[in-house]
Amino acid sequence: MRNIITTLLVAAAFLTACNTSQPQYRIGVSQCLDDAWRQKMNYEMERELLLHPDMTLSRRIAYGSNELQCAQIDSFIAERVDLLIVSPNEAEQVKPAVTRAYRAGIPVIVADRRVTGDEWTAFIGGDNYKVGQLMAQWVREQCTKHNSQFKSSNFKSSNFTVLEVAGLPGSTPATLRHKGLMDNLPEGVVVHSVMGSWYREEAYKVVSEYLASHPMPDLIVAHNDLMAIGAAEAAGAVPIMGVDGIQPGLRAIVEGKITCSATYSSRGDMVIATAAQILHGEPFVRDTVLETTMIDASIAYPILRQDEAITRDLETLHLFQTQTESKWKQLRYDKTLLITWLIVSIVLFLLAAGYIIANQVKLQRKIKSDILPQLEDVQEAIQLSHRDVAFADRLKQVVDDHLTDQNLSVEYLGSMLQLSRTQLFRRVKTVTGKGPLDYIRERRLIRADQLLHTTDMTVQQVALELCFSSAGYFTKCYKEYFGHLPSER
Ligand code: FRU
Repeated sequence: MRNIITTLLVAAAFLTACNTSQPQYRIGVSQCLDDAWRQKMNYEMERELLLHPDMTLSRRIAYGSNELQCAQIDSFIAERVDLLIVSPNEAEQVKPAVTRAYRAGIPVIVADRRVTGDEWTAFIGGDNYKVGQLMAQWVREQCTKHNSQFKSSNFKSSNFTVLEVAGLPGSTPATLRHKGLMDNLPEGVVVHSVMGSWYREEAYKVVSEYLASHPMPDLIVAHNDLMAIGAAEAAGAVPIMGVDGIQPGLRAIVEGKITCSATYSSRGDMVIATAAQILHGEPFVRDTVLETTMIDASIAYPILRQDEAITRDLETLHLFQTQTESKWKQLRYDKTLLITWLIVSIVLFLLAAGYIIANQVKLQRKIKSDILPQLEDVQEAIQLSHRDVAFADRLKQVVDDHLTDQNLSVEYLGSMLQLSRTQLFRRVKTVTGKGPLDYIRERRLIRADQLLHTTDMTVQQVALELCFSSAGYFTKCYKEYFGHLPSER
């Protein structure tokens, strides 16, 4: 029975799998962090994935840990994903795992943060050196503004201090943003750097510590908006520039907490589109560097509204996708159930039909071999008993008609009934249980009894009438049959 059930389930799964288009490619996504910027990137990926039903994503987040990220990449390698998308926490530390994946023959797309070397398939990310340049340009502008304000008091740019709140030092954006800033600063500007590691709370802490031992800087540049907000919370009303230009930063600009931000695109959609090109063997761009631009208070509000609308759309799409997926799952489950149920019903039906047919055949055989002959016997017996009843009637009739006839003997009775002596004896015995003579005597005694009861005839007269040899013999026979004397009527 267990074998039958297993076979049925396998058959159902097979039938279900046959006409359901299952994703063909499994993509592993290794994210270093899980902040607003990464979530936007994830939504963009999922939105683009709607256009590629042959691909499915499996995402793992390292929460800023190089070790965890390497372990997660290794698990993707062990699972033989068809492609790996990785946004490395720190370039050197995560590089060995990325290289292992690449050498295992898994195409690797490095997104946002780079790894050193060239053992990766494609890169898509922002221009971090340009971001640093934009920071330097902003510093220059602020410096010029400041100089013109203090021209009369003979201000020198060497008095101008910038506090840089840097991202995780081992990550390529932090390195390149710092370089872009330093390479392009106006002469004489003093830069102090603290490390916020990309986190708002960390930035708040390091800026507070800095301020405890330094005078307030003229400007703060933070490598992302979250750290810019953290710095603003610690420093108060200092002009602050951040990076990313998405919701938390845009809102902070609109609310006047920070001054401006450089955009830093996530373009998860482009990452997935490139993944599709690689998996489908189509041409793709190996190294894509995304544009960056400045956002200040003059344009932050409309961009914030637009970003909120886009985020809402992405979230709605994500919700829709999740619901559709769960509906598909339910449908697939229902379908498997239905097919299993159908197969079970058909098998049960066939088993029942087989059982019924086998039983019918058995019954027919039994009827033929046992019941029919018995029936024939019964029919014969019925026919025989019909003949016996008719014979018994006729015998009684003939005997009763000749009760007063002296000549009524076995031979005479046989001739009247057209039977030989033996036949007569056998048939009379069958229907009366007695011999012919005893039967004749019984009938005479019964008639005698009637006469004694219904007429004035004496015992002698009755005995003579019914051909008994003497009154004594009649009396003897009568007593034997009725249990009392004929005179005691
Ligand atoms: C998000 C983030 C961004 C930053 C980028 C650098 O995780 O910290 O704020 O621009 O990563 O890789």
